[in-house]
Formats: sequence, C-alpha cells, structure tokens
Amino acid sequence: MNNLNTFEVENNFKYNFNNKYKKEVQNLLIHHNDIFNQKYEELNDSWKSEIDHQIGRYIIQMKIFETIKNENIQGEILEFGTWQGQNLIFLVNLRNEILNDDYKVTGIDCFKGLPYEEDGWKEGQFKNTSKKKVLNNLKSKINNIKNVEVVEGYFIDKHVYEYTQQIENVSYVYFDSDLKTSTLESLNLVKKFFEKQKKIFIGFDDWGCKNYTLLSAFGKFIHTFSNISFKIIGKTDYTIFFEVINHNLT
Ligand SMILES: C[S@@+](CC[C@H](N)C(=O)[O-])C[C@H]1O[C@@H](n2cnc3c(N)ncnc32)[C@H](O)[C@@H]1O
Repeated sequence: MNNLNTFEVENNFKYNFNNKYKKEVQNLLIHHNDIFNQKYEELNDSWKSEIDHQIGRYIIQMKIFETIKNENIQGEILEFGTWQGQNLIFLVNLRNEILNDDYKVTGIDCFKGLPYEEDGWKEGQFKNTSKKKVLNNLKSKINNIKNVEVVEGYFIDKHVYEYTQQIENVSYVYFDSDLKTSTLESLNLVKKFFEKQKKIFIGFDDWGCKNYTLLSAFGKFIHTFSNISFKIIGKTDYTIFFEVINHNLT
C-alpha cells in the first residue's frame, strides 16, 4: 500500500456569514476578537485568512472530536507548541462539550520562543508567554480545566520524552511548533502511537507557510512506516488535518 494513500483535498475552509460557530469561536479568542465584529468582505486578505483559520481549525477539530466520540476512540489529546494557549483553549472547550474530562489534554512548549532559526522563522519568536500565562488564559475562557496539563520544556528534553512515553494512547495530536526540526522532533515522540493504534487523528498548523517545509518533515517521517495511511480530512489556508489508519491492525 502507498503510505500516502490520498491527497485529494476538498476546498479549503472558507468563512460564511451565517456560520453558526462564529460567536462561539469569538468568545474563545484571546487575540483580535474585535475583527469578528467587522464586515468580513471589508477586511484585507490576511484578516480574512485569520478568521478562516480560527473558525476553520475550530470546526475541523470539532468534527474530529465527534468522530472520536462516535467511534469510541480512547486516548489523550496532545498539542506540541502552545505559545499563549489559543488552540489549547479550543481543545479543552471541545473536549468538555463533546467528550469528557477523562480525556486528558496536554500542551507542551518551552515557553522561550522558537529554539532554532529556520526557513525564515526567527529564533526567539513567540517568547512573549509563560506557563502561568497559558494557565491564566485557559481559566479566563474555560470553566472546567480538570485533567489539563501544561508541560514546560523543549521537545528534545528528557522530561518531555519521559512524559510522552508514559502515555498509553492518544486520540488526537496537534503539531504547532512552526519549525521543520521541531515538528520532526515531536512526530518522533508520538511515533509509537502510529505503530500501536488502529486510528488516530493529527493536525498541523503552518502547513501552508514557508513553502511547505513541514511537508518535507512529514514526508520524511511517514516513509518510515508501511501500511499506514494518511487521509486528509480538513484544511484551512494555514492548517491540515489527517486521519491516520494503521492497516496492520485493522
Ligand atoms: C506558533 S506558536 C504556537 C501557537 C499556539 N498553538 C496557538 O494556537 O496560538 C509555536 C510555539 O512552538 C514552540 N516551540 C517550537 N519549537 C519547540 C521545541 N523544539 N520545543 C518546545 N517548544 C517549541 C514555541 O515556543 C512557540 O510557543
């Protein structure tokens, strides 16, 4: 079987004016929620993309969580690259609404900014945060933060390795560390789940940025497997989401 069994992509998510999740997403935003009050058609392209991105990734992750629930997929929810916690807020909110707090959610970040200069990303970018800030942001938006953990460390740190390896199963992993090198480091931390689980979901932020450099990291990674398919299930201008099936176990 071809490792990448499908790359058919449906249209990118595009915001529509009657989107019923607009208010829900707006209420969860820690930055720029005022742009949601402006007329979409009057915004410039980068703000339009930002709205599509936030609502798009929220809705696609909602569909993923609904599938996890409907198919009774067990396992923790992980995010690599948390910065100030925007997507972690989305994940915990969706977990509380669709799943339940037995599903542990963890955000992992060094909180010191990008560790390497790479592909136009600057070392130290996104350092304006801390674990405390993420916890405060979470508490400001979410009532139930039970079974939510924020781990501070580089992906290559021993304690991060140990933390991820004691996890039994994952159901969803979101990679949002921008850099090809960091993305590969985090993919390697969750490699064992691709090998031992029938089905999991993964998502990548910044997929379409910087000339698709993440694609080469991902390509390198998936070629270490056989009989595992990666099917695209959702996309925005900046993100991409896959259903991962291990056919050795089906
Ligand atoms: C774009 S930000 C994350 C954005 C966040 N998920 C959101 O939704 O707003 C990227 C984060 O990845 C973290 N990061 C990148 N490489 C890392 C590494 N090797 N180890 C730990 N953290 C890393 C940076 O510290 C930064 O906070």
